[in-house]
Amino acid sequence: MSHNMNLLGHKLRNSNVIGVISIIVILVSVAECRAVQYEAINCRKHIAVLTDFGAVGDGKTSNTKVFNAVIKNLSQYENDGGALLVVPPGKWLTGSFNLTSHFTLFLQKDAVILASQDESEWPSLPVLPSYGRGRDAPAGRFSSLIFGTNLTDVIITGTNGTIDGQGSYWWGKFKKKELTLTRPYMIEIMYSSEIQISNLTLVNSPSWFVHPIYSSNIIIQGLTILAPVDSPNTDGIDPDSCTNTKIQECYIVSGDDCVAVKSGWDEYGIKVGMPTQHLIIRRLTCISPDSAMIALGSEMSGGIKDVRAEDNTAINTESAVRIKTAVGRGAYVKDIFVKGMTLKTMKYVFWMTGAYGSHADSGFDPKALPEITRINYRDITADNVTYAARLDGITNDPFTGICISNVHIKVSAAKKKLQWNCTNIAGVTNNVTPQPCSLLPQKEGQSCSYPKDILPIDNVQLKTCSL
Ligand SMILES: *[C@@H]1O[C@H](CO)[C@@H](O)[C@H](O)[C@H]1NC(C)=O
Ligand SMILES: *[C@@H]1O[C@H](CO)[C@@H](O)[C@H](O)[C@H]1NC(C)=O
Ligand SMILES: *[C@@H]1O[C@H](CO)[C@@H](O)[C@H](O)[C@H]1NC(C)=O
Ligand SMILES: *[C@@H]1O[C@H](CO)[C@@H](O)[C@H](O)[C@H]1NC(C)=O
Ligand SMILES: *[C@@H]1O[C@H](CO)[C@@H](O)[C@H](O)[C@H]1NC(C)=O
Ligand SMILES: *[C@@H]1O[C@H](CO)[C@@H](O)[C@H](O)[C@H]1NC(C)=O
Ligand SMILES: *[C@@H]1O[C@H](CO)[C@@H](O)[C@H](O)[C@H]1NC(C)=O
Repeated sequence: MSHNMNLLGHKLRNSNVIGVISIIVILVSVAECRAVQYEAINCRKHIAVLTDFGAVGDGKTSNTKVFNAVIKNLSQYENDGGALLVVPPGKWLTGSFNLTSHFTLFLQKDAVILASQDESEWPSLPVLPSYGRGRDAPAGRFSSLIFGTNLTDVIITGTNGTIDGQGSYWWGKFKKKELTLTRPYMIEIMYSSEIQISNLTLVNSPSWFVHPIYSSNIIIQGLTILAPVDSPNTDGIDPDSCTNTKIQECYIVSGDDCVAVKSGWDEYGIKVGMPTQHLIIRRLTCISPDSAMIALGSEMSGGIKDVRAEDNTAINTESAVRIKTAVGRGAYVKDIFVKGMTLKTMKYVFWMTGAYGSHADSGFDPKALPEITRINYRDITADNVTYAARLDGITNDPFTGICISNVHIKVSAAKKKLQWNCTNIAGVTNNVTPQPCSLLPQKEGQSCSYPKDILPIDNVQLKTCSL
């Protein structure tokens, strides 16, 4: 917009055909200003455009230095109303760069941030304390494409601009076991609070897409996340040791869990001891043929509690809200509330696994048994399902307090299959078809509970900002 104004200034000074033309230009400028409005936790006083700092949007020139330099420059406004960086239409190739506080990264429609496939553009970081090692390789890990740590008030949004992780390079190295460091994530924000990620299209992340960790007060909404359904570990959104998170209106197609709720791995996660809690996920649409719509775990060693999932839809997905854990994980998954799910073409509607395996190293404590309790599901319809449920607790550590009510599952053809396969679990059901296993006896007249209070993150009102 400041460009238009400068242009206008020149015209006013230099042209003698101003009159009508200027008025038209002013009207168009005003219309443009009105048009670009967006919702955010905070608006910003200072605005910069990536091209003002010499970025080249040809999809070939690296802009890593430009991104880092301009954001460093804009960090001077942290305590002066904050700053917003406009990424205009174009293909902006870049390696990893860091965000700052009181800052908004704004991707206009037709802006594409394209991740570099040159490893020298990706600095390494130490492993996460609650994991003890990298997921792909024991040593360090590549910094994420968009990375932030120890921040307050950071926003990544736009008018549906795109971030393209160009993941095929990394998926190939992963499959050939050629990685010496763990693959980068697309967006990772650590030790931060007041985070908003919204109204963007994210495609082909090298690994997980959105990874807030050790953070709080997070709003994630209006994301379209797309990766091939056979791409490795392309989880959509992974809230990890986070408090007060809202995920809503996202559409995710991926090769791994659409949402994976985590809190650290075995003895490392137990030691850090930061749960994921007070999380709400609503109006998610998920397609993930080999994974879950929402997974709780398998890394849950800091605990997972008070998770609410409302009005979510899965199509051609392996399972719905799945619990994954193992001996050695410790901690708990408790007070989980699921209300309203529409499912179509699923392998399992209900799936809990107590023998997920996959340990950080052999140093896990075999006596660290996870406590899985008070898991509530209600108001579910499912069509074209292979198995209603597979619920495997842990021997001498049963999963308890399971409640399932008002659930109608249409299973596909093969009637002989064991529809409810239950071991080491306890709970109740009401108004559920087909008939549940004997470990989940019918208890008349009872709907499974769902909290009546509102999470603090749902009280955060977004402001209407304009560019
Ligand atoms: C930030 O960028 C502006 C505009 O290019 C420049 O004038 C200013 O010197 C820079 N400030 C810092 C701290 O780099
Ligand atoms: C980004 O942040 C990480 C972690 O603090 C740091 O190691 C790295 O040097 C930063 N990168 C830049 C370009 O400032
Ligand atoms: C970031 O915050 C964590 C947790 O509070 C702290 O341990 C770490 O030293 C901080 N890092 C920086 C660069 O300030
Ligand atoms: C954003 O773009 C994606 C990819 O083109 C598209 O599927 C999606 O519908 C768009 N979202 C909105 C809200 O326009
Ligand atoms: C952002 O997405 C939300 C849905 O989450 C939608 O209601 C809103 O209109 C979108 N805003 C813009 C500026 O596209
Ligand atoms: C039903 O599910 C099977 C996989 O179990 C799938 O091959 C088939 O296309 C689905 N049918 C419909 C009508 O969606
Ligand atoms: C039922 O679950 C148990 C325990 O996980 C498994 O060993 C068994 O194969 C399953 N049975 C069927 C028929 O799927």
